[in-house]
Amino acid sequence: MTNDNEKRTTHFGFTDIPEDEKAGKVHGIFTNVASKYDIMNDVMSGGIHRVWKDAMMDWLAPRDGQRLLDVAGGTGDVAFRFLKRAPGATATVCDLTEGMLIEGRKRAEAEALADSLDWIVGDAMALPFEDATFDRYTISFGIRNVTRVDEALSEAFRVLKPGGRLMVLEFSQLPNAAMQKAYDLYSFNVIPKMGQVIAGDSASYQYLVESIRKFPDQDTFADMIRTAGFEQVKYRNLTMGVAALHSGWKI
Ligand SMILES: C[S@@+](CC[C@H](N)C(=O)[O-])C[C@H]1O[C@@H](n2cnc3c(N)ncnc32)[C@H](O)[C@@H]1O
Repeated sequence: MTNDNEKRTTHFGFTDIPEDEKAGKVHGIFTNVASKYDIMNDVMSGGIHRVWKDAMMDWLAPRDGQRLLDVAGGTGDVAFRFLKRAPGATATVCDLTEGMLIEGRKRAEAEALADSLDWIVGDAMALPFEDATFDRYTISFGIRNVTRVDEALSEAFRVLKPGGRLMVLEFSQLPNAAMQKAYDLYSFNVIPKMGQVIAGDSASYQYLVESIRKFPDQDTFADMIRTAGFEQVKYRNLTMGVAALHSGWKI
């Protein structure tokens, strides 16, 4: 028999919470930040997230005719880049938070990309798509927010066609303690304050930096991708491991 004391817990930043509360809290955070999300991304990273997303496209090598699913796609950054490199491709952006998708749809109209894009509210752990639907699956700065990462990876495997490819862009771990310390000083002291000044919200950005520290290191995450069924799993560090790209194929 299960009672409240036996409820499964998970981390929400550095706090442990019941598993079934995490998605609601994550949704609340991204609803709060949606209208300021793009500008905050540029300010906090000094624009480097753009370089990382371009590196993702270099490795992914989009082609006309491909069907992309960008999960936790938010305001559409990754899908836009994909379509700019392969104007004959199509993309579906799926995200838990409708407010993020609404911002993205406005950007798509401004950039005349709306005809090649769908925007779907959905959870990475239970994707609202048939098996073997997509050629490419991307998730950028999204997977560390998902309650059960293994379920999201299994869903990625399920919705990809045989021959399809997964690519994950996520914050990662630096290779030595001194660099990690310098990075922690910046992220724990500066980012929540910037969030307060620019978006009037330090708590959401405190969660952001805590969630980065809780995410598994590069090799552990690569093993999780293999466990979900992917083959030829490889990763590349970006900016010495501040972020990393992971790639895997459904053979
Ligand atoms: C940091 S944003 C990343 C947005 C975009 N991919 C980018 O790289 O700029 C994280 C996004 O993940 C979404 N998200 C969090 N948990 C999710 C889940 N379980 N399923 C789908 N989307 C999720 C949030 O709503 C948010 O839009």
